[in-house]
Amino acid sequence: MAHNDSAMTAVISLLLIEDEEFDVRRVRNTLAPLGDRIRIRDVVSNGRLAVDLLAKNPDAYDVVIMDFQIAGGLMGERLIHELKKIDPSLQIMVITKMTVNISDYQFATTLLQAGAFWYCTKYPGDIEDYIYQPTDFLLGIMNGYQRRVMEKERQTSRRKLLRNIEEVLAQKTLIGVSASIKELRQQIELCAANDAPVLISGFSGTGKEIVAYNIHYRSNRKFDNFVPVNCGSLPSELIESELFGYEKGAFTGANARKQGLFEIADNGTLFLDEISELPFPAQVKLLRVIQDGEIEKIGRTSKVRVNVRIIAATNKDLEEEMKQKRFREDLYYRLNVVPLHAAPLSERRDDIPILMEHFLKIFSLEMSRPVPDVTSEAGTAFAAHPWPGNVRELKNVAYRLLYAGDQLITPVEARKALGTSESLSASSGTDMINFGMPGEIIPWRQMEKKMREKYFIYVRKHSASDAEAAKRLGLAPSNYHRMCKELGLKG
Ligand SMILES: Nc1ncnc2c1ncn2[C@@H]1O[C@H](COP(=O)(O)OP(=O)(O)OP(=O)(O)O)[C@@H](O)[C@H]1O
Ligand SMILES: [Mg+2]
Repeated sequence: MAHNDSAMTAVISLLLIEDEEFDVRRVRNTLAPLGDRIRIRDVVSNGRLAVDLLAKNPDAYDVVIMDFQIAGGLMGERLIHELKKIDPSLQIMVITKMTVNISDYQFATTLLQAGAFWYCTKYPGDIEDYIYQPTDFLLGIMNGYQRRVMEKERQTSRRKLLRNIEEVLAQKTLIGVSASIKELRQQIELCAANDAPVLISGFSGTGKEIVAYNIHYRSNRKFDNFVPVNCGSLPSELIESELFGYEKGAFTGANARKQGLFEIADNGTLFLDEISELPFPAQVKLLRVIQDGEIEKIGRTSKVRVNVRIIAATNKDLEEEMKQKRFREDLYYRLNVVPLHAAPLSERRDDIPILMEHFLKIFSLEMSRPVPDVTSEAGTAFAAHPWPGNVRELKNVAYRLLYAGDQLITPVEARKALGTSESLSASSGTDMINFGMPGEIIPWRQMEKKMREKYFIYVRKHSASDAEAAKRLGLAPSNYHRMCKELGLKG
């Protein structure tokens, strides 16, 4: 790799903190054999000067060599701290007098804890040429430099990761000014500060998934995976192998070892969406994993420890599901440690204009178009709409408004966009399927897509859950889910 090559050949820049001319000379002599690789850039005689110099040129030095006892007050561990504060990737080597007991491990430990990475005791004064055994000293500097390069690379990739996380959070910003959104934001902060299981309830399209993303990417687990699983879209016979994985040869057809979602989410967060759809046997297994912190991989005798934070979401009333004996009570209590609720839009109407403005702005930007104006009458129409599909429906309406291309949104445009609302959860309107044949003839493929879309919406509207809709359509839940995605009805 290119950077490693240059790390092998670059000139290593040193800062020497030493107040005795005699010792400066000895250090120079000791380094002389590698003069083309190692250069003393500056020599300072006290700690304060060193700190000032480093603050002015934070990138100028790779390794600091410092005498432990120097004049001027700022020395020893305090000096190490100050230098590391300015540049955490700076590598510090300490030279001490022989008078410091060479087997004083406590002293060495203190130095390392302060942030030095190496220390040596200088030769007695009657050895004039060298300060320390030259080969060891040079090797120490070389190692220090390697550490410096690695540390800088680590910082760079961490910065990149942080930037990515900021991008995710920017896309998943929870918009709203209502009291309930404000409370939700506070609860997200609290959840992000610990590892407790969270259960998010709320109707379809209220923002449960966005809440889960926010908890993960604001928590200490943010550098590890956030793994969303839709429990309704996993075929029941595959759930166990998806969640827990299997070993090679565990059953016929297991040609290779498969990582389960729990392992992929190790040290991160597993988001169990539509948790009410998890079949009973899988509920038992999930409960066991939560209790033990260990998974049983298929085809493996010993258990595997995992450290996974669980966030579950449901748009069904789990208490009712429990009463109907469809959901295990013990699992419910394990999941519902911190209950969060995403309120329906109809209960937080102050958010409607804010969300509408937000999505109009976003979609205008995407389509490179000016943001349309919404008349106050149109605003009133939006405010009065029941929004059965919640924020997802509102987002679709905003999209439709922009798609229609009007620069001014009057109640006419507003009602048109609302009326043709094709949200999966829209429950207003007639029970008949109206295919709404367009006036012009369009290609069969396009027409077929329109018909599929309408029919899927119709069936979903008359089913309690995605799982039920899939069943009534005679589709495997995973296929149903995929087709909804293809038709743009989900996500
Ligand atoms: N407060 C909000 N601010 C901005 N966008 C939101 C907000 N709430 C929801 N959304 C957006 O609305 C859409 C639906 O939200 P989300 O997928 O989180 O809902 P959900 O509660 O998980 O729905 P479902 O139960 O159907 O899965 C997403 O595109 C999401 O980004
Ligand atoms: Mg969701």
